[in-house]
Amino acid sequence: MFEYYTETLEKLKENSHFRNIKNFSRKDEKYIYIDDKKFINLSSNNYLGFADNKQITEEFLEFAGDKYSFGSASARLLTGTLPLYKELEKLISDLFHKENTLLFNSGYHANVGINSSITSRGDVIFSDKLNHASIIDGMRLSESKFFRYPHNNMQALEKLLIRERKNFKNAVIVSESVFSMDGDIADIQKLVELKEKYNCMLILDEAHAFGVFGQNGLGVTETLDLTDKIDLIIGTFGKSIGSMGAFAVGNKSIIDYLINKARSFIFSTALPPVNIAFSKWIIENKLPYTFDKRMNMLKIGQKAGSQSHIIPLIIGGNKETIDTCKILYNNGYFTLPIRPPTVPEGTSRIRISLTTDINEKELFNAISLAKQNR
Ligand SMILES: Cc1ncc(COP(=O)(O)O)c(C=O)c1O
Repeated sequence: MFEYYTETLEKLKENSHFRNIKNFSRKDEKYIYIDDKKFINLSSNNYLGFADNKQITEEFLEFAGDKYSFGSASARLLTGTLPLYKELEKLISDLFHKENTLLFNSGYHANVGINSSITSRGDVIFSDKLNHASIIDGMRLSESKFFRYPHNNMQALEKLLIRERKNFKNAVIVSESVFSMDGDIADIQKLVELKEKYNCMLILDEAHAFGVFGQNGLGVTETLDLTDKIDLIIGTFGKSIGSMGAFAVGNKSIIDYLINKARSFIFSTALPPVNIAFSKWIIENKLPYTFDKRMNMLKIGQKAGSQSHIIPLIIGGNKETIDTCKILYNNGYFTLPIRPPTVPEGTSRIRISLTTDINEKELFNAISLAKQNR
């Protein structure tokens, strides 16, 4: 039996697919340290620098004192809901001008729970081909059928809707807003148009856009003034907010339905109160003052040819991508090779993600170093 594992691992190594867990030390938000060597971190989702920020941590601890415990000890539907959890849910609902919010333990929990339960037998989900693994895993667990349309291809989606929509009772379209590995942005206006025309529900995962886009940091839908047109918006706290957890915000009936049906919500211990308190504290006290920094970060990303703060340097082969990371590493930049199955075969890449502390010169220097190896 164990031979199966060793053989599989050998095959992964042969194809440069093998992954292992590395040890890092991160003393502050911009740099990463490996064996006490300092690197500019171009692989972080800590977009606004709230995680690993000594001043922020100290300020929060001063505010929090010993008010919040480190374990919730129970699922939300049992004894795991303190008033604090409802307060954070209300804060999110109010920000989005929607009826209700449900917290999940992570974006992964949210997408698996939602996409597995939002439809059932006789229903259908239409999903962008490059949607995150958590969306795919959720759909795989669903009793409904699902179709994956070519990335951001609205014509292909419409063709699919024309062909298939009539064969199913309820239908859902699901997309990311800022795509996590490509940094491009879904055609949300068109998605809204299609969902209305073909009587579907629209779910948008703003994991990488929440805290970055929009006047109040609510995401791309805020920038486009389309928040009210999206049936369910997903956001995460593990990226821009520098915390952990996620939310789904929508109308009361959808949220009540998820409370009763989303198994990743029902059957898991709630996040610790101290973590909920930190997310809430950041959103109330820090996020409102980030507008200029966020817009500057997006401007730098756009100068590098992206639509967002995520810049993919597509290299192709696994080995070449790893080699390019090594060159960057030797020049003081920390990046990670992104390989299949995270991205399609033949599109291995370095995914540069900006944070508000990284300047234009640092980014373009890294890009030109990477290009020298292509
Ligand atoms: C689009 C998208 N959704 C969801 C997730 C999962 O979020 P979390 O890390 O909070 O589980 C990610 C993670 O990278 C993501 O990129």
